[in-house]
Amino acid sequence: MSCCDKRTHDDVSEYYGRVLQSSSDLQTDLCCSVEDLPHHHRELLANVPTEVLEKFYGCGSPIPHLPEGCTVLDLGCGTGRDAFICAQLVGDSGKVIGIDMTDEQLAVAQKYERPNTRFLKGYMEDLSAVGIEDNSVDVVISNCVINLSPKKEQVFAEIFRVLKPGGELYFSDVFADRRIPRELQQDSELLGECLAGAMYTEDFRRMLQRTGVPDHRIISMNATAINNPELENRIGFVNFTSTTVRAFKLASLEDRCEDFGQVAVYKGTIPHHPHRFEFDNHHLFETGHPMLVCGNTAAMISETRYAPHFQVTGDRSRHFGLFDCADGIPFIEDDGAGGCC
Ligand SMILES: C[S@@+](CC[C@H](N)C(=O)[O-])C[C@H]1O[C@@H](n2cnc3c(N)ncnc32)[C@H](O)[C@@H]1O
Repeated sequence: MSCCDKRTHDDVSEYYGRVLQSSSDLQTDLCCSVEDLPHHHRELLANVPTEVLEKFYGCGSPIPHLPEGCTVLDLGCGTGRDAFICAQLVGDSGKVIGIDMTDEQLAVAQKYERPNTRFLKGYMEDLSAVGIEDNSVDVVISNCVINLSPKKEQVFAEIFRVLKPGGELYFSDVFADRRIPRELQQDSELLGECLAGAMYTEDFRRMLQRTGVPDHRIISMNATAINNPELENRIGFVNFTSTTVRAFKLASLEDRCEDFGQVAVYKGTIPHHPHRFEFDNHHLFETGHPMLVCGNTAAMISETRYAPHFQVTGDRSRHFGLFDCADGIPFIEDDGAGGCC
């Protein structure tokens, strides 16, 4: 690790270990509220210790679908809010591993460890140092953490090393609509507040592509206000969003959506989603309603743990050209179904 990377880690640890004492000390409204959680997750929150909740610094709710029996890895787990929700969902046959580099955060999480949770001190840039093996994890989650890394591409390489084939990265983070100038990235307050390290969306896409992940899906994207005149003065020219993303470790994905005439039908069997399932911000599957999907979407729902919940007909034996995504304009926090791509 270079001395600059070490300094970034130290600054961030200082911020989360000593500068901030609770969620109310944050200087922006990036931190998401309980109301953002679906009802069935709010019920689980009632079983999470207050001390954990008071030091929640996430910007979304990356609680994966269908986690039962899964090994879930939470990168930058903090005091463990999401890990403790997931621990109730994975059940006795699954497990949740939380990794964090800040002693003060980790100490709170460790105090409430359960039989199926483990909290380890470590860096998300080097998961082998904490014994996370290749192809060993079903779902990697992370909530407002990757923006804080000085080596983001290395983090993605590690994530896709440890995920099993068909495994999923499901994470929330702060994204920016432009590259943030280098001098602002050195500002420890802007960094700690998850602004200065926010990924420019196109650079994120390129990073994933270089990691061998040619397609990813946006689940939700909410514009975020800074609400602090002093910080706004320094970095207000950037538009930030709090975004939740899913990406799969699948060798069959292509860099564009291709049309093979495949059709998917959602069976209505994912718990709490009997009538419709929003796979991403332009795929709202209605139960029983056949939908033409591109090869990548077909792979994401038929070569992963989602497979029992969809009937996909057709294969890639006949190609009909590029998939028409014209109707598939992504929507931002809208319930309407777009087309598909
Ligand atoms: C914004 S807080 C989010 C914590 C938690 N995910 C939550 O939602 O409350 C960022 C956390 O990531 C941890 N962190 C930042 N960079 C890290 C790294 N490179 N490796 C491991 N943990 C890191 C910090 O120590 C801090 O606990």
